[in-house]
Amino acid sequence: MALVYIESGRAKELSCRINPLAMRPVLVLLVSAAWALTGAQYYYQGLMDYLENRLLAIEDRMQFWHEQSRRYHAEVQDFKKLTAETVDGLRSEHGALLKDLEGAALRVNRVEREMDHVESQTSPRACAVAADRVVEQGVWGPEERRGGEEEDDGWEELPSRVSDCVEIISAIRSVKILKRVGGPKGMWTRDPRSSRVYLLNGTSGDVVYQFNSVRDLSRSPGVTGGRPIRLPFAWSGAGGAVYNGYLYYIKQEADADVQVVKYDLLSGSVTDIAMFPAEGRAAVYNLNPETVADLAVDDEGLWLLYADGDGEPNIHLAKMDPATLDIEEIWDTRCPRENAEAAFVVCGTVYVVYNTRLASRSRVECVFDVNGVAVSEEAPLLYFPRRYGAHASLKYNPEEKQLYGWDDGYQIIYRLTMKRKLLV
Ligand SMILES: *[C@@H]1O[C@H](CO)[C@@H](O)[C@H](O)[C@H]1NC(C)=O
Repeated sequence: MALVYIESGRAKELSCRINPLAMRPVLVLLVSAAWALTGAQYYYQGLMDYLENRLLAIEDRMQFWHEQSRRYHAEVQDFKKLTAETVDGLRSEHGALLKDLEGAALRVNRVEREMDHVESQTSPRACAVAADRVVEQGVWGPEERRGGEEEDDGWEELPSRVSDCVEIISAIRSVKILKRVGGPKGMWTRDPRSSRVYLLNGTSGDVVYQFNSVRDLSRSPGVTGGRPIRLPFAWSGAGGAVYNGYLYYIKQEADADVQVVKYDLLSGSVTDIAMFPAEGRAAVYNLNPETVADLAVDDEGLWLLYADGDGEPNIHLAKMDPATLDIEEIWDTRCPRENAEAAFVVCGTVYVVYNTRLASRSRVECVFDVNGVAVSEEAPLLYFPRRYGAHASLKYNPEEKQLYGWDDGYQIIYRLTMKRKLLV
């Protein structure tokens, strides 16, 4: 009943004012109030139970999540381990695959060689000659090379060679007739180390015209747009070459020995002069008698093409040191001078261009590889497109893989398509 007083002030007030006769309904009220209180207690108890249950459920769920996350963590660890193992496995598989690929490449090479051989049976080919050193028989004797050919396993072990470059011309891709400047004979070339273009009009003279680019030359009215450079000695023939800011040219004055001159185009002075490696003044190309010797530049450096005397029918080749003009090695290319018009060197391989006295189509008919790698089967019979007259000169630029031709006063650019030499 104490609870009644505290909880319900109103019930206490009522019991003081009402007389004893009216006590009965009060009792009923109290009892019902007690009932109501018990109901509230039940209600609170229920609420508590409910909350407890909820808490328990939340706890359960938290436990569940906790376990789940632990499991995930463990799974992630496992996955990481698995990934690492897989990556290791893949790495080793990659290595194996690479080896397989190498094998496949060798097989493809072989098939290509066979295809080329089949092609060579059905199409005309240039006459290529194997390396024949006049001085210094190297360790790359043709017999040794042949020996390697017999066994298929020896493919990868290639003999060391003079040159590292492995390209051969497969076709003349396009022709561009740039301009017509000067007389029927002359030469023009582009320094592979700079974009400068040099033009030497005629077969003798002492003025070289320098242009900053091919475009400058094509825009120039005649040669007047170029910078004239006066040489201390006149050049002879169309056999000059420009390499790394130096002009190399042939000096041939009456009653004097033929010389190779190295001229610094920047400082305007002669840096070096070397004697010619042969006596006599026979022209290197029979169809261009003014050109006693021809200098050529390729990826390997500087080359000299010349005739080894009047009685010698073949074109000779010398490798020159561009710095000192020292001759490092000499070869007989076995390419005849007769009906030769011009020649150029690409990747250590000489391509001699032939024509007829009444100029018809020029063609590469003889190929000589100083490494003996380019064999006759691969050397294509290259025909130059029909032109105006005959080539006075053909200068190869190794950077752009194109030829600068001089044809009856026209400056022509031939772009070349290359392919890999078959390393037999
Ligand atoms: C180029 O040389 C020829 C001779 O071969 C000469 O007739 C001509 O005038 C020269 N042209 C120039 C622009 O020097």
